[in-house]
Amino acid sequence: MILGGDGFCGWPTSLHLSNIGHEIVIIDNLSRRKIDVELAVDSLTPITSIHNRLAAWKAITNKQIKFYEFDLAEEYYLLLETIKTEQPDIIVHFAEQRSAPYSTKSERNKRYTVNNNLTATHNVLCAIVDSGLDIYLIHLGSIGVYGYHTTKMQIPEGYLTVQVAARDGTSVQQEILYPFDTESIYHMTKAQDQMFFHYYNRNNSIRITDLHQGNVWGTQTQETRLDERLINRFDYDGVYGTVLNRFIIQAAVGYPLTVYGSGGQTRAFIHIQDTVRCIELAVNNPPPKGAKVQIFNQTTQTHRIKELAETMANIVKGTKINYIENPRGGIEDSENDFFVAKECFPALGLNPILLERGLIDEVSEIASKYRHRCDHSKILPPNWT
Ligand SMILES: NC(=O)c1ccc[n+]([C@@H]2O[C@H](COP(=O)([O-])OP(=O)(O)OC[C@H]3O[C@@H](n4cnc5c(N)ncnc54)[C@H](O)[C@@H]3O)[C@@H](O)[C@H]2O)c1
Repeated sequence: MILGGDGFCGWPTSLHLSNIGHEIVIIDNLSRRKIDVELAVDSLTPITSIHNRLAAWKAITNKQIKFYEFDLAEEYYLLLETIKTEQPDIIVHFAEQRSAPYSTKSERNKRYTVNNNLTATHNVLCAIVDSGLDIYLIHLGSIGVYGYHTTKMQIPEGYLTVQVAARDGTSVQQEILYPFDTESIYHMTKAQDQMFFHYYNRNNSIRITDLHQGNVWGTQTQETRLDERLINRFDYDGVYGTVLNRFIIQAAVGYPLTVYGSGGQTRAFIHIQDTVRCIELAVNNPPPKGAKVQIFNQTTQTHRIKELAETMANIVKGTKINYIENPRGGIEDSENDFFVAKECFPALGLNPILLERGLIDEVSEIASKYRHRCDHSKILPPNWT
């Protein structure tokens, strides 16, 4: 069962898991498409309706994917009934509002993001218990929960071992969740999701993998390439577009690459094809019953933003780089290192796509082909406080 299976990560994951033989059921309320209408933007790629997508998948592969349209945060009893009817072995949960700028835009957006993300996650956990079924839950969290500050130590995969002074003068060793330090309401909901997972794992023995994912870039995967009706979404706007996707379209349309502040910020990245592969690896490697929540950092490379801009400018000759005032103001460090552990997925078999090669493919395969669909007025972030 793929929650949020119409979204940027959920759609190619649904197709891939279907392709390798899993029965797939998608639940999505199509809120992401509605937010496009609200923001008056559109995916750079011409995505078709969920119904056309599913019909195309059936026509091409003869594989059926079921679809339910409802809101996980609002429709608890419908969710419970759907789980009881479909009896999933695994639920993959992508269904959250995922833009940090959107989540901090206004009080309405803050409350929407908190209500949507936290209630959806809690409803899923509660319904798993209520169903009485032994369902393994995989959740897409964010690597941003750790905060983007330079640390002398390497940031671990979820858990930190600490030594604290005991009352008798000796020291006690404890393993704790790495302390969160989030810079947006969106990231805060990911930090809070972790507490729900801890509780339901301890008290109801639910098997859970929480994936602390980096910025996802790229568009197509093996399956979405099969037919244009299966094409994945590509967000390039200043609200939902992640930095690399914005650079890709800016270079393709001859718009200077906009680097926020000094560009010294280091961020973590992963290609969409590797996201899909990581979910497959997580599906195949559940934690044993009774084990604590399994946390993997789902990222393959870290880069400074100005280095990415320079790489892009080398790929598309003549591209200029424009350093603009950071719209995130004084919140984020102007420069940081980000040493984050990422050994778990390679140990399970992930062989990542390299950034430079993948960027060239993106420019030629997607950005050049669809640049006529780009609304230049949407590239820069709106002037939100
Ligand atoms: N895209 C990234 O770079 C990135 C990076 C780190 C983590 N993530 C996480 O991965 C997950 C998927 O991200 P994405 O980029 O595919 O986002 P997306 O917005 O494209 O997809 C999310 C999907 O969930 C659906 N949804 C949201 N709330 C729902 C609800 N209450 N009920 C039913 N459906 C609902 C939306 O309609 C959408 O189709 C998110 O949880 C996000 O936080 C994404």
